[in-house]
Amino acid sequence: MNPNKALWEKGDFTRIATGMRQGGEGFVASLGIRPGLKVLDLGCGDGTTAIPAAKLGAEVLGVDIARNLVEAGNQRVQDERLANIVFQEGDASDLAGLEDDRFDLVVSMFGAMFAPRPLDVARGMVRVTRPGGRIVMGNWIPNDPTLVAQILKISAAYAPPPAEGFVSPMRWGIEADVAERFASAGIVSDSISFTRDTYRFEFPCTPAALVDEFRRSYGPTMNAFEAAAKDGRADSLQAELEALFQACNTSPSPQATSIPATFLRVTIAVN
Ligand SMILES: C[S@@+](CC[C@H](N)C(=O)[O-])C[C@H]1O[C@@H](n2cnc3c(N)ncnc32)[C@H](O)[C@@H]1O
Repeated sequence: MNPNKALWEKGDFTRIATGMRQGGEGFVASLGIRPGLKVLDLGCGDGTTAIPAAKLGAEVLGVDIARNLVEAGNQRVQDERLANIVFQEGDASDLAGLEDDRFDLVVSMFGAMFAPRPLDVARGMVRVTRPGGRIVMGNWIPNDPTLVAQILKISAAYAPPPAEGFVSPMRWGIEADVAERFASAGIVSDSISFTRDTYRFEFPCTPAALVDEFRRSYGPTMNAFEAAAKDGRADSLQAELEALFQACNTSPSPQATSIPATFLRVTIAVN
């Protein structure tokens, strides 16, 4: 089994995605989507950004490596009776099944960053974007003090060392690395812009309950707990994550969790 696929099919990421819907809609609203725009959402999950894009009239293809998330996305499409969007299984590291220049806009919100072989990811995204089109990525930033970078950092400290040759997904949050990857796909640095943006997670539960949800549903956290349990450190991991979630929470309600997280927004003009 492909470990990248196994990681994301583990658990149920849709349970985390429910707290990302507002952030996804806000992000999509900033993309200038108009009816008929051809959009590829790479690493789309169950449609946090793909579905709002379709609701704005875009023709959307959502591609994700996790079969269960593709099924969940297509179920949402049916439930919402949307005719201009479809989700299919695929790997951001290998877009061979998609034609050159097919899309006006390729979006990847915390998705393609998790695919192996980043040079292939960059090349594939550029190849399927038409000249004059755009690529927009949202990537978590290594060592950033906000939520997701810290979850991944804490989790990594409990997990076994990565296999030799493993390239951290967090390097997609380093501007120089992103520029180098796209340069290898023929994109000059003047065509890339970087901004820091904020994504808000909103959950109707306490920060401690949210840690439990990550422990049950989010592949990277599940793996960290499994590894921690093997050497009797699961309680310590739980405590570290609870402290993090409490510290990041800005909700005035004791029964809700609202956490802003910083990400690197990468915009590429493809010529
Ligand atoms: C953190 S989730 C984000 C999902 C979605 N973009 C969102 O904002 O809710 C990461 C997503 O990337 C997908 N993913 C990971 N590796 C991938 C790959 N190689 N190709 C396509 N999708 C991938 C996962 O299955 C998962 O849905």
